[in-house]
Amino acid sequence: MAGKYSKQANIEVKVDSLMQLMTIEEKIGQMNQYNGFWDVTGPAPKSGDASKKYEHLKKGYVGSMLNVTGAEEVKAVQKIAVEETRLGIPLIIGFDVIHGYKTISPIPLAEAASWDLEAIKTSAQVAAKEAAAAGINWTFAPMVDISRDARWGRVMEGAGEDPYLGSKIATARVNGFQGDNLNSKQTIAACAKHWAGYGFAEAGKEYNTVDISASTLNNIVFPPFKAANDAGVKTFMNSFNQLNGVPATGNTFLQREILKEKWGFTGFVVSDWASIIEMTTHGYAKNKKHAAELAIKAGSDMDMESYAYVDELANLVKDGIVDEALIDDAVKRILTVKFELGLFDNPYKYCNKQNEKQVTGSKEIQDAVLDMAIKSIVLLKNENNILPLKKEGQKIALIGALASDKTSPLGNWRLAAEDNTAVSVLEGMQTYTRNTLNYAKGADVNTGESVFTIELAINTKDKSEFPQAIKTAKGADVVVMVLGEHGFQSGEGRSRTNLGLPGVQQELLEAVFKVNKNIVLVLNNGRPLAIPWAEKHIPGIVEAWQLGTQSGNAVAQVLYGDYNPSGKLPMTFPRSVGQIPIYYNYKSTGRPNNSGLVFWSHYTDESNKPLYPFGHGLSYTTFSYNNFSVNKVTKDSFKASVVVKNTGNVTGKEVVQLYIRDLVGSITRPVKELKGFELVSLEPNQEVTVSFNLTKDELGFFNNKGDFIVESGDFKAFVGGSSETILEADFKI
Ligand code: NOJ
Repeated sequence: MAGKYSKQANIEVKVDSLMQLMTIEEKIGQMNQYNGFWDVTGPAPKSGDASKKYEHLKKGYVGSMLNVTGAEEVKAVQKIAVEETRLGIPLIIGFDVIHGYKTISPIPLAEAASWDLEAIKTSAQVAAKEAAAAGINWTFAPMVDISRDARWGRVMEGAGEDPYLGSKIATARVNGFQGDNLNSKQTIAACAKHWAGYGFAEAGKEYNTVDISASTLNNIVFPPFKAANDAGVKTFMNSFNQLNGVPATGNTFLQREILKEKWGFTGFVVSDWASIIEMTTHGYAKNKKHAAELAIKAGSDMDMESYAYVDELANLVKDGIVDEALIDDAVKRILTVKFELGLFDNPYKYCNKQNEKQVTGSKEIQDAVLDMAIKSIVLLKNENNILPLKKEGQKIALIGALASDKTSPLGNWRLAAEDNTAVSVLEGMQTYTRNTLNYAKGADVNTGESVFTIELAINTKDKSEFPQAIKTAKGADVVVMVLGEHGFQSGEGRSRTNLGLPGVQQELLEAVFKVNKNIVLVLNNGRPLAIPWAEKHIPGIVEAWQLGTQSGNAVAQVLYGDYNPSGKLPMTFPRSVGQIPIYYNYKSTGRPNNSGLVFWSHYTDESNKPLYPFGHGLSYTTFSYNNFSVNKVTKDSFKASVVVKNTGNVTGKEVVQLYIRDLVGSITRPVKELKGFELVSLEPNQEVTVSFNLTKDELGFFNNKGDFIVESGDFKAFVGGSSETILEADFKI
């Protein structure tokens, strides 16, 4: 049946002609997405939820499945959809390819720290290739939620706190996943999520209420989604949270007014997992039927795991409560993406076992994730050039359970990756050095098993291996301590109120410091941590996040100086949890400066300063900034330029960052806003002039009606290697 449509002229015609043949139930079926259910290559399930799904599948009442992976497995379910249903419409197979499929790349927050858009694009590209070879044709990524709250576990999955950087990264990732041709066997449809506001969950508590102003929505939350739409992202996912009193899933303003009408989004919106039915628990829908009505009217096109559409929509249409035109619009959107993926031409095109074998974990993919991993590392502190380490003649103590862990570096979203498949820091350091390397665990981070769905138990008691670690550290030239969060301490459902080193690790650090002060702390974490003691006492601090399959090799290359670190923080690190939300693009208060009295904007017990600002990251070399100027080009476009020089002894890369401040606005403007960056590589003594073009897009902002405006007046521009910039210049519009 499928082949019948493939020969027709264009996708619109094909979709229309197919829809003419569909019953209302078959149309609604396309709007229904189920989680993978039984061993799809085995016998059909006989009872329970799985059998209900199976029956629906055979009737053609399932449009998409998620979490069915592997060329054979996908082929098996696709076969039912294509060969056993009346119309033979293929399924679209979704999966959370968030940071790699089986070969795992760094968590997205880490990738963002590279500020390297090409590398980020390549990382998405190879993930798409590996996933597509396993039958997957749709990823639920990129997550483009901006967040200012490190307590929220899902900051690991985004690009940090800044809408400008977030927008550039959203574009890179969409382009990486989708490529130039969605029909290719190596590309998959992307999904911008979670629309919208999820990253502003109150108090960083997972799934919590979101109440934010129009100004924050338009200027901070929306831009990366808009960028994803402009890049041609095929799908959006709505979010679990309510936004200003209305659940995102039932939110007409978000899904219809902004996304589909204002931005002209032509793809489809999938609900988040059960988010339609959860509108009843939010206290927004009376029951499942009401939830289905609210969701479809608001513009949610596909129902992930709520059973609300498949169970209720047909009756809602029959009763005249829901207009069939809304169903038609949703189905059209879904079928269009399926045609674009080439699923009608060949529903099994993503299901070649031989190809899957060749592609999975291939050298090309391993190289790309290693490249991404080394570029994601941020050198936070390097007192007295404790780094890079000498490659021989040194006695090095390596301490920390995470140093030998081969699972935690895979991070959170690695559903298809096997445990124990990451290169550990211990293995990496063994490969890259001829030093004497002595390892001691010191203490476990967690007790019990570490799995995606279950709360991780943290070791808060067992210090029995401290003595061995202290002994190992005592006689060493340098101590490398790998401490921080386990990969399953961040991600969905993993909010924290305490952002220090988990469990007994802070005590371990201090105990080792007592016997040897020459410590390099390698942090593993999925979010900014508040570690003021370490910043004060430890000479070398390296941010190594969760870097994926090639983690240990990447860390070793940076520690030994084979790669000169170039990452910059995409999110502010607080000194204390009490400072959160803390972010660089804040607004001035009326009393920002210390007046000598208490009546100024500050805390009595903590500084206003972050531990590490947004954009911070050191190198094994140093850079100077000179001759910064901003010159008018046209009425409202400017050119800024600065001379950057490598003033150290080794080649290094610098992310040159440009910020502006609009001094007076009809809506107050942030004290700084990132408006440009460029990654430059310079040899010792080499200098380069870096230029930025400031156009309306960079100089304006959204007013509270959502209109983009550029206001004339005085501006400042700033440039430097972090948001704590070095040079500034004035200009006027
Ligand atoms: C819930 C998460 O919020 C979403 O991001 C993810 O894509 C779905 N589950 C599917 O796994």
